Amino acid sequence: MDTRITRPTPSDREVDWNKTKVLLSKTDTKGTILYANEAFIDVSGYDEFELIGQPHNVIRHPDMPKVIFKFLWDSIKSSQNIHAIIKNMSKTGRYYWVITDFKIISDSDGEIVGYFGTRKSVPEEIIVNL
Ligand SMILES: Cc1cc2nc3c(=O)[nH]c(=O)nc-3n(C[C@H](O)[C@H](O)[C@H](O)COP(=O)(O)O)c2cc1C
Repeated sequence: MDTRITRPTPSDREVDWNKTKVLLSKTDTKGTILYANEAFIDVSGYDEFELIGQPHNVIRHPDMPKVIFKFLWDSIKSSQNIHAIIKNMSKTGRYYWVITDFKIISDSDGEIVGYFGTRKSVPEEIIVNL
């Protein structure tokens, strides 16, 4: 079965979503999505079966500079949590801004086994003043 996802064309419209919700995802050490909560799934526009097993860049917005993700990975791989303001892209091509907090999941030997991403909406005033 071909499980690749066709990339949408970015639109200049924002996803209409419930900004009181917290969007959660859990990945393995490579950033493959293992779990997404209902709010994450809803905002992404994908079905759960389309997201699970996909690399997290499935919701990457082309406006996001690569260097942000390099910094992100360098930090979490060395067990340092960071907060990042990220523009994501839904299945429809619409965007949504979130502030993401990362949590490192380690086993009893201290070995990193995966990561959690917790996202909240970013108030519009912050984005327009960036
Ligand atoms: C827990 C976790 C959550 C992530 N959340 C996002 C996200 O919301 N949006 C995003 O574009 N990348 C996210 N990433 C980073 C992606 O794995 C990936 O590095 C990024 O989308 C850039 O894609 P690229 O590596 O193909 O350039 C997350 C990674 C981890 C480990």
